[in-house]
Amino acid sequence: MTQKITIIKGDGIGPEIMDATIKILDQMDLDFEYDFKDAGLEALEKHGDLLPQDTLDAIKANKICLKGPLTTPVGKGFSSINVALRRHFNLFANVRPVVTFEGTKSMYENIDILTIRENTEGAYLSEGQTINADRTIAESKIVVTREASENIVRYAFEIAKKAGRKKVTAVHKANIMKTTSGLFLEVAQEMAKEYPEIEFNTLIVDNTCMQLVMNPSQFDVIVTTNLFGDIISDLCAGLVGGLGMAPGANIGSDVAMFEAVHGSAPDIAGMKIANPTALILAAAMMIEHLGYVAEANRIRLAIRKTLLDKDRLTGDLGGSAYTADFTDAVISRL
Ligand code: NAI
Ligand code: MG
Repeated sequence: MTQKITIIKGDGIGPEIMDATIKILDQMDLDFEYDFKDAGLEALEKHGDLLPQDTLDAIKANKICLKGPLTTPVGKGFSSINVALRRHFNLFANVRPVVTFEGTKSMYENIDILTIRENTEGAYLSEGQTINADRTIAESKIVVTREASENIVRYAFEIAKKAGRKKVTAVHKANIMKTTSGLFLEVAQEMAKEYPEIEFNTLIVDNTCMQLVMNPSQFDVIVTTNLFGDIISDLCAGLVGGLGMAPGANIGSDVAMFEAVHGSAPDIAGMKIANPTALILAAAMMIEHLGYVAEANRIRLAIRKTLLDKDRLTGDLGGSAYTADFTDAVISRL
């Protein structure tokens, strides 16, 4: 049966890296139909709405979405479209793997870390962010619920079990944020008891950052709340050659949305030099999610081989190749 996929090309470098990614998916002989929809600045210009209802309807109907980065205009009263999408479809788990690819600027060998970030609450609420009239006091609300914490911790342990991973680390700041981070930690400790076969430890977030830089190989699966997960996953991307290398999945019980961890990179948009790897790897996660494990691994292997070729590396990896050069090289190695 034809699988319909909602495609949002996105802003900035989005269309460039999405075109590269679709070119690769088209090589895979999968029965996909692309349903192109707008969101972000592009949608604001065309339809007067950052997140048109038509786009939401398509995601809901197709259940699978591949999405380029979206620019949220700052200081114009818009709340983040990414956060809105995640909350609208209750995409509770943000799954962000990083692995070392030989040939990139990675400082370490053999990194294989999976960050599982709570994606719907924590410090990322659009409501409850206030500032007084003379702009001297700003406040925001952090909400952690037992239900969302249980969902994300269970997801982390289940994925660890399925993937044969050995260890789960719950990252928190319960020593200071006693109620919010404290509740998350309490839930993680309780649920770890249900998975005695998987090693479990807890680590305070600031120490985690230091440990990730000093000795990343001690980490396997990291599970944490929204803000810490956002920061830690960018740090992890830095361990394997930068944001151009890091894919992510937003998983809900009904809908799943796949994207790169990075943003729209306005500084290089339109120059055709963006590294499409993160979005291509996100597409690999998507087809794996749809059951095409061998095909996903074929894409990953072709990327692995291409990254060994210095002449094909994009600027962020120290090379001077164009997006299309890299993409064609991946296709030739599929
Ligand atoms: P960014 O990730 O767009 O860029 C940070 C730096 O990394 C820039 O120097 C950029 O050129 C470089 N970079 C990122 N991806 C790259 C790639 N594929 N190839 C080569 N170089 C790459 O982060 P920034 O500048 O903080 O955000 C820009 C915009 O993106 C903002 O409007 C932000 O809201 C949005 N954003 C959207 C996200 C999403 O849609 N999921 C995630 C993060 C940011
Ligand atoms: Mg981020």
